[in-house]
Amino acid sequence: SAPLAPAAPLLAWYDRHRRLLPFRAPEGGRPEPYQVWLSEVMLQQTTVAAVGPRFARFLARFPDVEALAAAPEAAVMEEWAGLGYYARARNLHACARIVAARGGFPGEAAALRKLPGIGAYTAAAIAAIAFDQPVVPVDGNVERVVARLAAEATPLPAAKPRLVALAEGFMADAAARARPGDFAQALFDLGATLCTPRSPVCALCPWRGACAAQRQGVQETLPRKAPK
Ligand code: ADE
Repeated sequence: SAPLAPAAPLLAWYDRHRRLLPFRAPEGGRPEPYQVWLSEVMLQQTTVAAVGPRFARFLARFPDVEALAAAPEAAVMEEWAGLGYYARARNLHACARIVAARGGFPGEAAALRKLPGIGAYTAAAIAAIAFDQPVVPVDGNVERVVARLAAEATPLPAAKPRLVALAEGFMADAAARARPGDFAQALFDLGATLCTPRSPVCALCPWRGACAAQRQGVQETLPRKAPK
């Protein structure tokens, strides 16, 4: 089916407004799979602001996947201190040993998904950002953007499979398939800076004309969440 919105305006907006984040490759630079994996695992439960300095410090101590694989688990746990969710650190170390032994990260989301600590979101993020595979990682930001574009009234988590399918639909556009890594990060930046949970800045949104929620004036009410 046709994508919810065309990729070109979002990518043009990203080219002007992309955030310079400590864990991002410089513009035009190739992201290292190791660095993409490390930052995406850190970002699973830690804010962008908190990840910045910790990412740099971790990288200084364990500069590549071989160094991480060769380290004792206790050293990895020690470096992770304060980041919480310590299963992430144990999985990180187990994953590094597998990846180092096989000579690098697999480039496909389905193969990445089989590694310890890598779920559907992280697999898609690594595949798109590090390997330019035509997949769309769906985190909370992307759920919100897609729920608003589609004016999806079903509450989360029930709406999640539909939001994931709609997000995959972006890749029907050749302009998105030409730059999957930038497209994913453009969605993250849109959700973090304009399509925010409260008071979204629709007037500046590159997808203003494509957004059903904005047309209906219901953007602030979406996505709905089922009561816990
Ligand atoms: N949140 C999770 N991954 C991200 C990324 N690569 N850029 C910005 N925000 C993110």
